[in-house]
Amino acid sequence: MRKQVKGNVSWVGYLDWELQLFHGHDYRIEHGSSQNAYLIEEEKTVLVDTVWSPHRSEFVENLKREVDLKSIDFIVANHGECDHSGSLVELMKEIPDTPIYCTKSAVKSIQGQYGDRGWDMRVVKTGDTLDIGNGKTLTFIETPMMHWPDSMATFLSGDNILFSMDAFGQHYAVEDLYADLADQDILWGEALKYFVNILNPFAGFVAKKLAEIEAMDLPIEMIAPSHGAIWREDPLKIVGKYAEWADAYQEDRVVVAYGTMWKGTERIAHAIADEIYRQSPTTNVHVFDVEASDKNEVMTEVFRSRAIAVGSPTYINGLLAGVEGWLAFLRSLKFKGKKAAAFGCYGWSGESVRILQDKLAGAGFDVVEPSIRANWVPDESDLSAIPDLVRALLAEPANADV
Ligand SMILES: Cc1cc2nc3c(=O)[nH]c(=O)nc-3n(C[C@H](O)[C@H](O)[C@H](O)COP(=O)(O)O)c2cc1C
Ligand SMILES: [Fe+2]
Ligand SMILES: [Fe+2]
Repeated sequence: MRKQVKGNVSWVGYLDWELQLFHGHDYRIEHGSSQNAYLIEEEKTVLVDTVWSPHRSEFVENLKREVDLKSIDFIVANHGECDHSGSLVELMKEIPDTPIYCTKSAVKSIQGQYGDRGWDMRVVKTGDTLDIGNGKTLTFIETPMMHWPDSMATFLSGDNILFSMDAFGQHYAVEDLYADLADQDILWGEALKYFVNILNPFAGFVAKKLAEIEAMDLPIEMIAPSHGAIWREDPLKIVGKYAEWADAYQEDRVVVAYGTMWKGTERIAHAIADEIYRQSPTTNVHVFDVEASDKNEVMTEVFRSRAIAVGSPTYINGLLAGVEGWLAFLRSLKFKGKKAAAFGCYGWSGESVRILQDKLAGAGFDVVEPSIRANWVPDESDLSAIPDLVRALLAEPANADV
């Protein structure tokens, strides 16, 4: 089935209501998702992207019901990742000679995944245009590292739609297609979660690219991303949000994240949270046992925070494996301008706090002292350093421009 987007543009993607995990086990989906593909039917017929390979047959069958496949003049592949290119093999069996417009890097990623099948790959660069008749053109805009080297966006003049690819998307299945018809809390929560977990590592590229797109002065009236809802009302609001988020974003929030075996480290975590409330009642605190929590949600909270406290007991001369894995993910997201403190219990050798401090510094956090390192079960003397730890965490940075 197709859904009209605007003018002669239709949505021909896949609403993925059942999706629970994305990127393997890396991203937990809470409200479904979609892979958005679009059909533009002017004098030329253009297919913008496809859907993930598990849905390829359904996608091609559906497309056949909507349009004679032979009438498709061009395919635009904005991104080589298989959630958008995954139906190409099935589709190209039917129309092997149809040219595919993509970046130079997408030729590599597409051929890398599906082999060189002799498809007519047409490499485009920022500013290249394609005339599709009726006075309308497509303009291509490379968006490298948003979030793969091969990513690009495509602007359709006349209807003034920016097909933005993964950028500005959300993992959210919206039957009604448009962001203004979706549940706003879920929509903005999912848009933020997507930015944090997929795009934040490349925030520097995002900020530069947004400035470049602004300078192109495109009269954008609609932003149609590759996942989730289409931004129709005030489409530049999400662009403004991205600019804010890409600029070392933070609110007056703190995350306390820990792992524990026998609840000693948990006790310190709770005491830190209570002390934050005591010193700064308006600061919003979230406490997570990271081994039991949805890491994408925790990371979204970390992103919103100005500081974090991270705890682990010493476990065989190191950290709990769940905390270690969580720290690896934390590091990969490249957060900026945030403080961190470390805490944990131990029995004999007690390495965990030192390791936590090193890893937090390695993840780009400004590590403050003191730390809390409790032998066996935390007692009053261990907890007595918590007010100082919290004061250091909440202190304004010496150089206030972070
Ligand atoms: C499987 C296991 C391995 C441990 N390995 C170490 C260790 O190598 N060095 C150490 O100082 N303590 C070690 N401990 C002791 C814990 O760090 C100690 O019991 C601590 O109080 C547990 O904190 P928790 O209540 O937050 O789980 C180990 C405990 C367990 C159960
Ligand atoms: Fe992607
Ligand atoms: Fe995607």
